Amino acid sequence: MRFSLLSLLIFPASSASLSPPPTLTKLSLYDFPSARCLDGSPGAYYVAPSLSDSRKFVFSLQGGGECTGLEDCKDRTKGDLGSSDHLASTMDISGQRFLSQDEDENPFWFDATHVRVMYCSGDLFSGNGSINEDIGVFFSGAKIIDAVVKEVSKDWEGGEVVLWTGESAGGIGAMMSVDRVAKSLSNSTVVAAPVAGFYWPTLSEYHGEGASEIDYPFFPEDWVEMAKTWSSVLPSNKCARAVDVPETCLTAHINTPFVESDIFFVESQTDSVQLSLHNGIGDEPDGSVPTQTDYVLEWTANMTSFIKSHLSTGEGGGRRVGTFNPSCYTHTSFSADKPLIDGRHYAQAFYQWYFNGDAEAMQDTCDEGVFHCNPTC
Ligand SMILES: *[C@@H]1O[C@H](CO)[C@@H](O)[C@H](O)[C@H]1NC(C)=O
Ligand SMILES: *[C@@H]1O[C@H](CO)[C@@H](O)[C@H](O)[C@H]1NC(C)=O
Ligand SMILES: *[C@@H]1O[C@H](CO)[C@@H](O)[C@H](O)[C@H]1NC(C)=O
Repeated sequence: MRFSLLSLLIFPASSASLSPPPTLTKLSLYDFPSARCLDGSPGAYYVAPSLSDSRKFVFSLQGGGECTGLEDCKDRTKGDLGSSDHLASTMDISGQRFLSQDEDENPFWFDATHVRVMYCSGDLFSGNGSINEDIGVFFSGAKIIDAVVKEVSKDWEGGEVVLWTGESAGGIGAMMSVDRVAKSLSNSTVVAAPVAGFYWPTLSEYHGEGASEIDYPFFPEDWVEMAKTWSSVLPSNKCARAVDVPETCLTAHINTPFVESDIFFVESQTDSVQLSLHNGIGDEPDGSVPTQTDYVLEWTANMTSFIKSHLSTGEGGGRRVGTFNPSCYTHTSFSADKPLIDGRHYAQAFYQWYFNGDAEAMQDTCDEGVFHCNPTC
């Protein structure tokens, strides 16, 4: 790398190597007795301090699927997705979305304090802190979130800006918790940006040629069952009252109309994990199986129009909803390199939306009968 004094002067702290490595904090079970991983160990998070003493904070909830039955959840206690016992004392978290310390990769948020909330509760961050006595497993995702926020924000003076994000399971969890968190940080500004967290209760499964077994069905009755297993905290009473199956309020498409915070959905139109794990489309679609193609086109059209139905400029004082919604077969792979829409990556799109009010332009439109048409995927 060429040495340049000028760039050092202008960007004194933009080199990540100058900052200490993000370190692990385990929550105190004395202060937060119900903020536990599945196995009873304390919930945990990594913090990379701000490079510039900014009052910006990014909280990123780690993803990693969910456990859907007691056996499945018991199994999870053996690994990092169910226990904090074996987490390393430092971890490079900068590769995760919105946690880069490079300004081009992460405009505005690059010099925030970056908090990576580890996912060890199996419950999409929804559990209310109950223990299942039969198997001795805790479901405390919501309690872990509340504890981390309380601890990180304890010295805040007000006026902080907070990006509330997470990918996949963490994106789902970010949506169900954003208003609760915003309320607890009422002197600060909170905006949600779930990545690959836009889900809805499954409407139809793929049964055609090449279909795969669905290990994690997401029909409304499955959400009822999961919420019961996890003792889930539902995101809003208004939502629970307004829909036929209150537990489906755990999904973003159902809870979004009731969320009061600003939201930016970073979501692929052809979400590969939703299509394969939850809808059974089998191998990556390549257009060679007509029934699969038809299903993917219909599902993709639903994804696109469901997101579109929520977009809002916030006129009249309401909250704003925007999106970066490329036509790509991917789940959480959003980086500064790709995918791009109109030459912008997801974090630049967020910046445009948040500070300049763009929204509609960030959804790809494909020709009739074509899916994943974005050339940069
Ligand atoms: C917000 O600020 C006011 C005035 O400084 C203070 O009284 C209040 O406790 C703060 N609220 C929170 C949730 O920190
Ligand atoms: C959690 O939810 C369960 C089941 O809905 C309920 O019985 C229990 O009282 C709740 N516990 C807490 C700590 O809120
Ligand atoms: C798309 O949405 C419609 C209307 O809600 C629904 O009937 C249909 O089953 C959905 N298709 C897929 C593939 O999910």
